Amino acid sequence: MSTTSPTSSQKTTSRKKVTVRTLRARKRRGEPITMLTAYDYPSALAVDNAGTDIILVGDSLGMVVLGYETTLPVTMDDMLHHCKAVARGAKYALLVGDMPFMSYQVSVEEAVRNAGRFLQEAHMDAVKLEGGRERVETIRAIVRAGIPVMGHIGLTPQSVHQLGGFRAQGKTAAAAKRLVEDALILQDTGVFSLVLESVPGRLAALISEKLEIPTIGIGAGAGCDGQVLVFHDLLGLFDRFTPRFVKQYTHLHATIAEALAAYNDDVRNRRFPAAEHTVEMKDEEWEALREMLQDA
Ligand code: KIV
Repeated sequence: MSTTSPTSSQKTTSRKKVTVRTLRARKRRGEPITMLTAYDYPSALAVDNAGTDIILVGDSLGMVVLGYETTLPVTMDDMLHHCKAVARGAKYALLVGDMPFMSYQVSVEEAVRNAGRFLQEAHMDAVKLEGGRERVETIRAIVRAGIPVMGHIGLTPQSVHQLGGFRAQGKTAAAAKRLVEDALILQDTGVFSLVLESVPGRLAALISEKLEIPTIGIGAGAGCDGQVLVFHDLLGLFDRFTPRFVKQYTHLHATIAEALAAYNDDVRNRRFPAAEHTVEMKDEEWEALREMLQDA
């Protein structure tokens, strides 16, 4: 195992920790923001070393890491466990912990307590939660507690059953108007950034123009202030399905399958381990051992 070395961008510029203020400044300067999910220590190291601005420990881990059909079974314990590992691997990116289903819907008090656990126990810098105007009271209380909140509207996967599936949102004028209103309401409530998931590109661009806070799009076109993808989707690690809006930059699922098959083949054909993978002892120690065993 090798220790990580700085990337070329880290070597040439002294990298600073990304904060919510950094993101606002990026929007003012028109500089695109990058966000990726990570769920454990190695993925956090890789995403952070690549110079990514925001790491989201998304509840998408329920689907891509834990193998559930939806994000609904993910618990606070699951999220905190993964957030802690990510926090150990990432140094510069702003760390956002995704509040899981039922951790913020039951009462405002419970929501504030759970949001606090992401910062206090799991070393996140902020939390994300799904929903529009119906979340105003909750978001206001969390922000009042000093916890930065990222909003998330459009396709909100925790409402998959209410939405009738993982389907694009805001495609009619009325639905789009409601999303514009929700975005403005969430900004007034104090979110520092807003995820727009699976909404028409023109609508996402319009919302982004209207807001002072940065929007982060996923399946929402190029008009957002930043973009987010799920780690496993980008790397082609998750082969169950690939949403249309994903760009796969590589196909690690196939690469891994090949490597694992080669290992099994090597072991079965006695090609692994070879001499270079084996610890040896000095000849004199070996001879001494044999003599000792003969005496026994
Ligand atoms: O859970 C997640 O990964 C998300 C992103 C897709 C925004 O919410």
